[in-house]
Amino acid sequence: MSETTPSPTGQPAAPGAAAPSAPTAPTAREERQEVLLSVRGVRKIYPSAAGPVEAVRDLTFDVRRGELACIVGPSGAGKTTLLKIIAGLLEPTSGQVILEGEPVSGPPRTMAVVFQEYGRSLFPWLTVRGNVELPLKNARVPAAERARRIDEALEAVGLAHAHRRYPWQLSGGMQQRVAIARAVAYEPHILLMDEPFAAVDAQTRADLEDLVRDIWHRLGVTVLFVTHDIDESVYLGERVIILSSSPTVVQEDVHIDLPDERSQLETRSTKQFADLRHHIYEQIQLAKAGIVPAQIAAGVTQKEV
Ligand SMILES: Nc1ncnc2c1ncn2[C@@H]1O[C@H](COP(=O)(O)OP(=O)(O)OP(=O)(O)O)[C@@H](O)[C@H]1O
Ligand SMILES: [Mg+2]
Repeated sequence: MSETTPSPTGQPAAPGAAAPSAPTAPTAREERQEVLLSVRGVRKIYPSAAGPVEAVRDLTFDVRRGELACIVGPSGAGKTTLLKIIAGLLEPTSGQVILEGEPVSGPPRTMAVVFQEYGRSLFPWLTVRGNVELPLKNARVPAAERARRIDEALEAVGLAHAHRRYPWQLSGGMQQRVAIARAVAYEPHILLMDEPFAAVDAQTRADLEDLVRDIWHRLGVTVLFVTHDIDESVYLGERVIILSSSPTVVQEDVHIDLPDERSQLETRSTKQFADLRHHIYEQIQLAKAGIVPAQIAAGVTQKEV
């Protein structure tokens, strides 16, 4: 069965159809078409003693509500810079970030961020429960509601049993689960993650990847996940935005058409997975060689440079 292409207004375009009927609540499909986050011409130049550093040249892309999008790019491509700008923690030199129709000018209340350095992001004097609770207290969420959300979030990350422990009594992977639980309990509309699993072992990492997809499925939260790991981006994402080397632009925006049900063993051993990984790897190599999207469109290959 063919699907109807939605018009720019979000209504299905039905050629020859009668006059539009009265507005109805958006369907799940229409909600998925809605742009939640819009990054428009973002540029960032850092001043430094050795002269200005152009970390990000010109980034433009949209993320739709409910999407799980990954961003990959070479080290120093400006991934963290971009995430900080989206999170309202850093001002762009030019361009704009729009979240749910509003320009971002400070940390948005509907956003949560998980950084790589979980060790530094948890408060050592608070228990696991206290850490998850803190942003909810700051947001003046009533006590009973707080308790419910904390219980659910700790259950979701498999840490219900450890709620009275302190961060320093936990392994690295468990600490990162606390950071994820804290973000999830906050019930953000969008969750930003900056290389959140870079410091954990391979097995824990695989478990945490599955946890992110599980939470994304269950809560319908929009996720923007930054990683330098190509396999991770393909396994996790519905879409992978490849950044070029600095000065950074979008090298390619790849649709990941793997089945929604993914398994570490099976998905990663399919030909489709290998092809996607190969393609993204190739694009990153081109990016590292400084071949920009316009040159790729013109058929320039790495060997010619
Ligand atoms: N505060 C700063 N002052 C000056 N230059 C900076 C600053 N922060 C980052 N940079 C520079 O901006 C560029 C992008 O840095 P950024 O940390 O955003 O890259 P990244 O893609 O996250 O790298 P990685 O994969 O290593 O985490 C780099 O050249 C970096 O040296
Ligand atoms: Mg970074």
